[in-house]
Amino acid sequence: MEFTGVKEKTLVIIKPDAIQRGLLGQVTARFEQKGLKLVATKMAYLKQETLREHYAHIAEKPFYPAVEKFMMSSPAVIQCWEGLDVVNTVRLITGITKAREAEAGSIRGDFAMSVACNVIHASDSIENAQAEVARFFEASEIHEYDKSDYQHVYAEEERTK
Ligand code: PPS
Repeated sequence: MEFTGVKEKTLVIIKPDAIQRGLLGQVTARFEQKGLKLVATKMAYLKQETLREHYAHIAEKPFYPAVEKFMMSSPAVIQCWEGLDVVNTVRLITGITKAREAEAGSIRGDFAMSVACNVIHASDSIENAQAEVARFFEASEIHEYDKSDYQHVYAEEERTK
């Protein structure tokens, strides 16, 4: 899997609160309208062992058991998006973790009031994106295809990066 130029990839998890609140379409639309390319998507109950790996950096925090319970409370939708500088772009569209302080216009700024029920997870670096995409998707689940609107989404020199 390539993670450079327009082939850069990032992982998004649309969390159980968003599924329960019927926000899947609106959240997905934010990325589509930006011009990003969806290359993988699936709905699944997240497994405890996968979450322990995914949230290893907060596993010792007092709030971790609640995070795990919440993330397993109903299915989530997992997506892989592709595009130029997509990791950073998706983080900007997502907004900061503390949703009440997230910038208006971002997903969390517009849809969330909680640090835990904050609608979405997005990879925070290219290195973590590579690990997270591999954690949640088999290579065969990631789809290569030409997106016809790329000629209008990017300038020619950007498309060939
Ligand atoms: S941290 O605290 O700097 O490591 O924060 P971060 O890397 O953004 O990851 C925090 C994830 O844990 C979820 N969460 C909470 N964070 C902070 N405080 C409380 N109480 C809390 N409860 C849950 C938060 O939603 C982050 O999840 P992701 O999926 O990364 O957005």
